[in-house]
Amino acid sequence: MPGHPGPTRNAPLVRHMGHDGSMAHDAFAALLDEGARADVTGWDFTWLDGRATEERPPWGYARLLGERLGRASASLDLQTGGGEVLAEAARFPPTAVATESWPPNVAHATRLLHPRGVAVVATPDDPPLPFGDAAFDLVTSRHPATVHWREIARVLRLGGTYLAQHVGPASGFELIEFLLGPQPEARRRRDPEAEADAARSAGLEVIDVRTARLRIELLDVAAAVYLLRKLVWWVPGFTVEEYRARLHDLHKQIEADGAFVAHSTRHLIEARRPA
Ligand SMILES: C[S@@+](CC[C@H](N)C(=O)[O-])C[C@H]1O[C@@H](n2cnc3c(N)ncnc32)[C@H](O)[C@@H]1O
Repeated sequence: MPGHPGPTRNAPLVRHMGHDGSMAHDAFAALLDEGARADVTGWDFTWLDGRATEERPPWGYARLLGERLGRASASLDLQTGGGEVLAEAARFPPTAVATESWPPNVAHATRLLHPRGVAVVATPDDPPLPFGDAAFDLVTSRHPATVHWREIARVLRLGGTYLAQHVGPASGFELIEFLLGPQPEARRRRDPEAEADAARSAGLEVIDVRTARLRIELLDVAAAVYLLRKLVWWVPGFTVEEYRARLHDLHKQIEADGAFVAHSTRHLIEARRPA
């Protein structure tokens, strides 16, 4: 979950059970409704404050990104989403661009980043990147949906750096598998060592790979609905209607245990185009 869930506090839930169970059912229906109505555009997760928490990786990606941007001369942020993470940087190099493929996020990122002098380029995630060879000394990305190492190597200058935080293997799979059942093949994807090998095959030198497994707590079923609507690749085609029965099971489990616990996985990866 690439979000910023805030500090833990009790979610404002109606937890009373009527004699016939109807109040409990109303609470469930109300939570489903809240999750289904929430605005999921952009890449800000503050809606989850009080409904979910997620540990953050220890390396502090936004801080590292800000430091690198302060030293770069031409930067490219791939799959910038709503631009929120990039916009946290204090300074940008004289040439700073970001790519984004999903139209609502393109509009959001443009509003946020153009006043800061960062050009947002609407382009598909698949190659080619719409930039010349050796155009950048810094390429960054947080949680890209896809990574095209040869394109990254192509647009980097000699000695230039790729710094990114990627989603790791089986991230959020406790929730995904709660709805879909076991996903053994998908669990093996996004292996950090396999990614490092792919980077090397594209001619990059891998400088650093750090991994983290981070606790997520969902405090109500609306948080699950929100995440499943926002992270559309978690359960493709997710709708509240189709998964209503399983969401009810999840709701009962959260009521019994106080939270549904899942884990995200992340890796920091830094690679350089040899000079
Ligand atoms: C996981 S997002 C990360 C965005 C940003 N770098 C960040 O960390 O906040 C990566 C990509 O997922 C895609 N994406 C996000 N929401 C989407 C949606 N609802 N439908 C299709 N693609 C989406 C966008 O192309 C986005 O650039």
